[in-house]
Amino acid sequence: MLDVRPALDAAAAPPVIRREDYQAPDWLVPEIALDFDLDPARTVVRARLSVTRNGDHDRPLRLDGEELELLSVRVDGEAREGRIEDGRLVVDIAGGGATVETEVAIAPEKNSQLMGLYASGGILCTQCEAEGFRRITFFPDRPDVLSRYRVRLTADKARYPVLLSNGNPIEEGDAGEGRHFAVWEDPFPKPSYLFAIVAGDLACNRDRFRTMTGRSVELGIWVREADLPKTAHAMQALKDAFAWDEEVYGREYDLDRFNIVAVSDFNFGAMENKGLNIFNTRYVLADAETASDADIDAVAAVVAHEYFHNWSGNRVTCRDWFQLSLKEGLTVFRDQGFSEDMGSKAVQRIDQVRTLRAAQFPEDAGPLAHPIRPDSYIEIANFYTATVYNKGAEVIRMLRTILGAERYRKGTDLYFNRHDGQAVTCEDFVRAMEDASGIDLQQFRLWYSQAGTPRVRARLEQANGRAALHLSQEVPATPGQPAKQPMVVPLRVALIGQTSGREIVGERLVLLRTGEQVEPFASVSEPAYLSINRGFSAPVIVEAERRSGEIEALAVSDTDSFARFEAGQELMTRDLMAAIDGAELDPSAVVAAVGATLRSNVLDAAFKADAIALPGENILIEKLDAADPARVHAVREAMRRAIGTRLKDDLSRAYMGASRADPDSLSGEAKGNRRLRGATLSLLAAGDPALGRSLAARQYEGARTMTDRQSALMVLAMLGGDEAVAALDDFYRRFESDPLVIDKWFAVQASVPGEATLDAVTRLAAHPAFTLANPNRLRALAGNFAGTPSAFHREDGRGYDWLAEMIVAADKLNPQTAARFVAPLGRWRKIEPGRAAKMRGALERILGEPGLSKDVFELASKSLG
Ligand code: TRP
Ligand code: ZN
Repeated sequence: MLDVRPALDAAAAPPVIRREDYQAPDWLVPEIALDFDLDPARTVVRARLSVTRNGDHDRPLRLDGEELELLSVRVDGEAREGRIEDGRLVVDIAGGGATVETEVAIAPEKNSQLMGLYASGGILCTQCEAEGFRRITFFPDRPDVLSRYRVRLTADKARYPVLLSNGNPIEEGDAGEGRHFAVWEDPFPKPSYLFAIVAGDLACNRDRFRTMTGRSVELGIWVREADLPKTAHAMQALKDAFAWDEEVYGREYDLDRFNIVAVSDFNFGAMENKGLNIFNTRYVLADAETASDADIDAVAAVVAHEYFHNWSGNRVTCRDWFQLSLKEGLTVFRDQGFSEDMGSKAVQRIDQVRTLRAAQFPEDAGPLAHPIRPDSYIEIANFYTATVYNKGAEVIRMLRTILGAERYRKGTDLYFNRHDGQAVTCEDFVRAMEDASGIDLQQFRLWYSQAGTPRVRARLEQANGRAALHLSQEVPATPGQPAKQPMVVPLRVALIGQTSGREIVGERLVLLRTGEQVEPFASVSEPAYLSINRGFSAPVIVEAERRSGEIEALAVSDTDSFARFEAGQELMTRDLMAAIDGAELDPSAVVAAVGATLRSNVLDAAFKADAIALPGENILIEKLDAADPARVHAVREAMRRAIGTRLKDDLSRAYMGASRADPDSLSGEAKGNRRLRGATLSLLAAGDPALGRSLAARQYEGARTMTDRQSALMVLAMLGGDEAVAALDDFYRRFESDPLVIDKWFAVQASVPGEATLDAVTRLAAHPAFTLANPNRLRALAGNFAGTPSAFHREDGRGYDWLAEMIVAADKLNPQTAARFVAPLGRWRKIEPGRAAKMRGALERILGEPGLSKDVFELASKSLG
């Protein structure tokens, strides 16, 4: 017997993996048969691999393995001594191929990392992306080794009546001694990261979908019996996603079955395993009483995302993990398109950009900046980032903008057809786009290799009936990339007449390609305002020279709804930053713009809700060099108070109007109204706490949706006092048995601004319902606390200490999830020196911990850097 552990020596820094070192696999595995004898304490896994030598070489077969107890090895039926070198099983093979059989034992119930085979609330399930398969059996665990899988599962019939794997069920039956078995076969060759099994006592919401060629696909969403009523939204989204991908991308589903399983313990949102998606319950279970509108929308988006991976990820997969954005950027772009078509395009776009600014811009400006196709990593799990996902999606969006919708579609058709069944690179994707469109994308490729958010300066000059747009760009230095080349920046631009308020120059696409460039506009009859980066056509920071009154005007009259939102944000940012820098706060321009928005008869409720919200404190901090988070908070609150006081009547009217939303409807209008209700309540409370308290208490008590209940609870929690305590107690008792709602209870309390929140989170970490073992619960508490600047950035640095202790404690159980909380400590460069030193101190203490995972080691060491 042999116990194989990861080859991480605590003293030495873990090795760096580089993209340029890629080598094709020495051995291929066209077929694998797996046999699981399932037991939570000790599961025995037998694997039979048919291996073939790839190319002309004499190297042995090397199989990845991690925390496997090796029981036996056979080659062509003959027993072999198991030889482990550098944590891999080495098998000498004489000829061009062989049958290699291994037998290992694993302990799912002890698997707290949630990678490989693990137990979640009585369900046995797997997570293999990126490198979890090696924790199940010995295998060349890399995405360019594609195999056909045949899987046999045997388990106790009473505890695990349902046995699932990828592909199609081909056999099942009794196995004696209270056990039963099932055999699944997946006809599509796939990389090991897409392998999955599930065993559990699960109920199924069944439905079917008829594909574009008339095939019938059996759909199943598997959950605990009690959760069945909460699966309707996910099922509807699944059918919508099937139809959308046929219509918009011409992609049809390929198996006879599509199963989704929901589990409570999951490191990420969900996983696209072929024919057997495994989901965090958070992105499956939803009804109006327990899930907010935002949660319900997220369910639909994630269901669609994982479904779309069947083509962008599974049929065409990644050659190596540096190519991750090949599948993730493209699939996020596809799920964004789905959400835009199912809801309101304008509101979706604002939300997408909000996410990008809050999560990706800071990453791109900090010590962890990396291109969407990274050049190196220590732990690949650390590169499932907002850059790879969300900036990756923006890059695909720019491609579509530059090519036009039709040529873009030709490009994806060519990509999917040319590379079906292959493991390919980002370069292959760009080449398909080039070949299909005839457009040279040489310079565009820089978006894949250069990190950092480009800054674009814009100045409109106007004289004698003509105008000229002067543009310049600069790509900032990032770690490892001191000097940058100019990128292709597609900017949608229009000119709006100062007096007419109309588009006097209609929208056009300007491709900024050089460091400096001038774009001429002929016959501009009227003084013009510049509407630029409309629809957020490029993921850049635009600094436009503005005339007096220009952004105020655009904030109410820009003809592009995103640009109008953006002008409002620019206006708010300008006046907040001036006050943060020491000027006296002048809220008049912001109050006027917010008032005009509230009173508008043409804007819809959802847009109003977005447009009246001030930019978040984290976004403001990003724009500063030595931010004092307490001051940022105080100034922003003062602005909110001014809006709440001076626009009390407009806000009250909007609040009352929005309150008429039909609680049983999920229409865009009803959702928009609930959103506006929350946004106006929050501002009313800032202006008049007593009024806010009574409105929020009434809203909380009368709430028929989680959207209304949660927004009221947040306002009450921020205001504090007896009402807050009463509402939080009520909320807990009401939803005690629903873990996803209890996550909200933790999240709300951890998101309350101010230094006192540390005491709350310290208390909550000791609450019986808190556990480090469940990623959702940990994120609810630690993630929200670290994301609330005025709470996290206490002057005494104790917020940092608290987070560092959480990271160290969580790292012992689940390194992947623990590592996700390191980044907030790495933002020290943007914070004033006193706090920054304390943030560095916390990072140093983390690094001083013995036995640190390479996940946390990589991010903490780079963050100090
Ligand atoms: N591919 C998954 C997605 O849809 C990401 C994912 C799921 C993941 N589980 C994971 C990544 C665990 C790392 C670790 O985006
Ligand atoms: Zn994905």
